[in-house]
Formats: sequence, structure tokens, C-alpha cells
Amino acid sequence: MSSSPIGKVAWEDRSKDPPNGGLFLIFPNKTVLVGRDENRNHVAFADLVVSRCHLEIFSVVVDEQYGHPPLVFVRDRGSSNGTAVNGQLIGRGAGLSPSRLLEDGDTITVGAHPHLRLGYTLLMNSCNWRHSYALTQLQRREIEMFKDRYVVTDRTIGDGAHAIVFLAADVETGQHVVCKVHDISRYSRTSKEVERIRQEASLLSTLDHPNILPIKAAFETEQTIYVITELATGGDLYSLLLRYNKLNEWAIRSIMRQVLRGVAYIHSKGVAHRDIKLENILCGVTPQVPYRIMLSDFGDSGIAGPGRLKSKVGTRFYRPPECDVPNQGHGLSVDIWAVGMLSLQLILGYEELPGLDSVVFKSQGEVDTYLSTIFAVLGPQGSISEAGQSFICGCLAYDSNRRPTARQAFYHRWLQNPESDRKMFKRLEADNAISWKPQQVKFPVIEDLTTMPLGGDEGGGIASKRQMALQAKKACQHSAANRIGA
Ligand SMILES: Nc1ncnc2c1ncn2[C@@H]1O[C@H](COP(=O)(O)OP(=O)(O)O)[C@@H](O)[C@H]1O
Ligand SMILES: [Mg+2]
Repeated sequence: MSSSPIGKVAWEDRSKDPPNGGLFLIFPNKTVLVGRDENRNHVAFADLVVSRCHLEIFSVVVDEQYGHPPLVFVRDRGSSNGTAVNGQLIGRGAGLSPSRLLEDGDTITVGAHPHLRLGYTLLMNSCNWRHSYALTQLQRREIEMFKDRYVVTDRTIGDGAHAIVFLAADVETGQHVVCKVHDISRYSRTSKEVERIRQEASLLSTLDHPNILPIKAAFETEQTIYVITELATGGDLYSLLLRYNKLNEWAIRSIMRQVLRGVAYIHSKGVAHRDIKLENILCGVTPQVPYRIMLSDFGDSGIAGPGRLKSKVGTRFYRPPECDVPNQGHGLSVDIWAVGMLSLQLILGYEELPGLDSVVFKSQGEVDTYLSTIFAVLGPQGSISEAGQSFICGCLAYDSNRRPTARQAFYHRWLQNPESDRKMFKRLEADNAISWKPQQVKFPVIEDLTTMPLGGDEGGGIASKRQMALQAKKACQHSAANRIGA
């Protein structure tokens, strides 16, 4: 992990004569807490307009190896006076985003008290991030067709087996969103691959739940499908483990409850996700555990029914034994096996699950032997409770018919007892739902742009990187509704 700072925050207190000032640095995958209480913050201001725990500035590295630049966010920690970025309030409440991505030159102020200002500067040049992913020339022209609604920037957030994910901005609300770019130029437009991508977008538009990533729009051109979704400002569970290495069991239970709420919801609609894993589960607000968790990447999902779901999908590591038996169909319970593996991975932390790459389980006995080896390694120091072991063993039943349903798994004692924990989980989950708004899009979501003439020409029509960055920044600053003092 690179240890060079990626950002710098210069603060200035103009209420003093002469004004006070200082500087702090932002490092990859680290959080800086800001507030009035010296004991609970890294940077403390004695000023009474600042709450005891006011805000945090954190960076998220999705995957350093693949060269995506880290993103730096500011989040209001439920302060009394609120937090504003360039005059636009963030925090809890209708129409506000809890966190906000910081761009070079942004100014953070404490609510309507601009005498205390924190200026953010990006220090990208000091790091070795590769800009290995970029929109193609053609895609730059295609995105012009919907630039009055969404501006796609050149900043990538992540990538996976199927697409590259870019940062974008919603022109109307000024909020950051993401644009998942699927290059379909290699395929015929009637091919299975293109149908699968369309299905992912259409399916997302029918799902409406706090633990599912909300979709905002989708566009199809001759060569590309663009899917616009909310930005999960806390990164994915993989980046969460990269950050903390290990999580405590309480935190893992809190994550698994939310994952299972999402899984039970899609299963109630007959949909199997089929690719549940660290990288496909997003932290909605901040890279801290009790916050909102969302299932994403429905690219491999399928509708279960008799004789359906035969294709070998998902990631090796999380795939149940029945998927390796030729011609054997599978059902919703593939997700429960993956939930078991996910819990095991979270308990182990950033370390890889030993030996799983090569293991193909042929019987319950083999699964049991594997699990007892892992539980023995975890040891009696309390890395995992007996209830946790029982939950994982239940999900990893070799016979898919013996696995619990998502609802039964949710009601397992590991995620429900003791009552004091359950009350706490429920309170946090109700709190998390506040940052969720029901879906605005209607099925079928994909707008067909194939007959629209391409914008731009070889020269003037193609936005330069700089123009695109400026446009995106303008879009983000645009939302007049939440402006203070304007
Ligand atoms: N809405 C989002 N907010 C934040 N990060 C995202 C979002 N969508 C995707 N990502 C990041 O990009 C990666 C790839 O996206 P994903 O949808 O899983 O694509 P693929 O289908 O290619 O696997 C994810 O693992 C995640 O880290
Ligand atoms: Mg993925």
C-alpha cells in the first residue's frame, strides 16, 4: 500500500486576529476525524460552532493493484451546525447526501459559519497511481448524448470482469453518481452477452430496497451500454478489509444481517444474485461498519424456476458444489452458500481462505473437514463464536436442500442474540434506511440511443479531459436548493 499522502487540507480560522491556520495530510485508506473534542478527534478546534464530533475526511482505495486513484470524501458526523462543501450542505436529512467526494480546490465550512474554512488540495502527483482505464474516443462522443443529465468524468472507481466503473455527476441534483461502462463493440447486439448486460440494468430497475444499489438511468448506443447508479461512498467490502485487515465479530454480524436482508428481498422476487462476494457488496456511506451495506453487480443474476439457472456463473471461490456438477441445475440456495463463504472470509480478514482455489467439495464430509481446519486455525481466542460457526456450517451445507433460506439464515441466533445486540442492530438499520430513497426509474430502464446522431466531430465536439472535469465539477456545484448564504 502506498504511504504517500494523496491530499492536503489547509485550515484557516478567520475569527481570530490575526487568523490562525494549519495543515493536515490525507493518506490512502485512512480517516481523519475533525471536531471540538481533543480526545476523540485527530484534528480539534476549540471553536463552539464545531460539534464535539463534527466531520471526517476519509479516502477509499478500491484496488490499488489495478491503478484506480483513491477517492477522498468528507462526511458530516451528525453535527449541530452541519458541514458544507463549496456552500452546499451535506449530512442527514431529505435531499442531502451524507458524504461528498472532494475535488481539488474544494472548500469545507462548518455550516453557515464560513470563518472556519478547510481547503482541500489533491496531491495526485506524489503518488504512482496508473491511469490505465479511460473512455475511448467513441465513448467520449457517445456520452455527449446524455450530458444534459449526467456528466461522465475520466476518473475510474473500479473494474470487474465485465465493465469499468467511472465517476459521474447528476446534472440536476449536483450529486456524484457512478457510470458503469460496458463495451459491447465485440458482440452482436442480439448476443447472449449483450442480453445479460441489458438484463442487469432492467432487473436493477425492478428492485427497490435499502440494501440494494439504486439505479438511476441506463443508455444503450451501438457500441456501449452505460448504467448510472448511486455512488457508494464507502467503497466495497474488499476495500474495507484492505483498510482494517480484520473486523470484529459484531461488525461482521452487522454486515451479514444487511446482506441477508438484501438477499431475502431478491429471493422473494425469485431472483438469485449468483455472484455474492466481497467486491460486489458496497458500503453506502462511509468505510465504517454499522452503516448501510448494498448488494451490487447483478451481472450474473438469474430468475430461478424449474429447469433454469444452469450456466456456470459466479466466482470460483464462492461457488457451491452443485455448480461444478455437469448439467445439474441450481436455485436460490447458491446465494446462501456464498453468504457462508463471505462470512468465513470476513472472519478471516484480508488473508485468503486457505486452499480453496483448488478444492472441489465432493461430500459433506469434505466440507466439514475443511471447516474444522479453518475453525481450529482461528482458535479459541474468540475470533469466532460457536453461534458464528453454526451459522457458517448451516450455510455451507453440501446438499443445497439442507441450506436455510435467506429468511431463516437472517433469524439464526448468531444474527439475533442477545436481545441487546438485536435492538442495537435494528436501530442502526432503521437509521441507515434514512439515507435511502425509493427508486425513481421505471422498468424497462434502458433508453435506446442507437438512432441518435453521434455528437461532436474529430475536433471541437469531443470534450477534452479538462473540459469534462470542469463540466462535472460545475454539475456538482450546481444544486442551488441546498446552498446556504447564496
Ligand atoms: N455504485 C458504486 N459505488 C462505488 N463503487 C462501485 C460502484 N459500483 C461499482 N463499484 C466498484 O467497481 C467495482 C466493479 O464494479 P462491478 O459492478 O462489480 O463490475 P463487474 O460487473 O465488472 O464486476 C466494484 O467491485 C466496486 O469496487
Ligand atoms: Mg463485480
